[in-house]
Amino acid sequence: MTTQAAAPMRIPRPCHFLMCPPTYFDVRYAINPWMDPGDPPDRRVAMEQWERLRALLVDLGHRVELAEPEPGLPDMVFAANAATVVDDRILVSSFRHPERRGETAAYERWFRARGYRQVRRAGRTNEGQGDHLLAGGRLLAGHGFRTERESHPETGGFLRRDVVELTLVDARFYHLDTAFAVLAEDTVMYWPGAFSAAGRRRLAALFPDALLVEEADAAAFGLNAVSDGRNVLLPSGAAALADRLRGRGFEPHLVDAGELMKAGGGPKCCVLHLHHASATPWERRP
Ligand code: ARG
Repeated sequence: MTTQAAAPMRIPRPCHFLMCPPTYFDVRYAINPWMDPGDPPDRRVAMEQWERLRALLVDLGHRVELAEPEPGLPDMVFAANAATVVDDRILVSSFRHPERRGETAAYERWFRARGYRQVRRAGRTNEGQGDHLLAGGRLLAGHGFRTERESHPETGGFLRRDVVELTLVDARFYHLDTAFAVLAEDTVMYWPGAFSAAGRRRLAALFPDALLVEEADAAAFGLNAVSDGRNVLLPSGAAALADRLRGRGFEPHLVDAGELMKAGGGPKCCVLHLHHASATPWERRP
């Protein structure tokens, strides 16, 4: 009789997140194919979904800070787009669409008020952790729909990381974090169809053991997942992907993000990882 070796238990790492409540959340314009102003979200339900996400992260032992939502910025709930954080360096985003540009000042204020010293406002268009993901010391940077390719040298230079450029080609997956997720230092998952041929080759070479996700799971926003190295929070439509994650030793948590997805954002879009800021001035305070 053969017994299948169980996947090794994975160790979660405590994370530090920034979120912003969907107080003024709405779909009043369409800047991605998921948004339809004719089918606006129910804000009360969106708030419940967001609150459950926040509570789950706290229950899992993570620290969640909150940014102050501002009227007139209905997408501010998608905090992942606010900045890219590496060590103590904060590159505050410059948004492609005028509808979101007001978020830059709002989030920059938050970082400055917190006492971060190395805060820079991006000179070129980049949409923060929507398009920038740290995987094992490398900074993966998507472009094609939002972040402009020309922004990568500024990003890599300021954050002092080598940048791996990835071209996105499917408008449904307009940010890197809708097509690619970092699960642990050594493990990533993605849907290859979202990337150019060169991008697919680059990813295959860098991550030979990646979990390749089915299009149906990607279309359910399954790649818009928040992982602490063990627990993976992903939208409830991606149940098949959750089973595959379990097979790799992760603990999936399906969360209902239906109202937020009407704006083209899932659980990962709602959180900005601050944990790359290893020792923030805030933490150093006596
Ligand atoms: N409505 C927002 C936009 O189109 C959604 C942002 C989703 N964020 C993300 N990190 N993928 O900009």
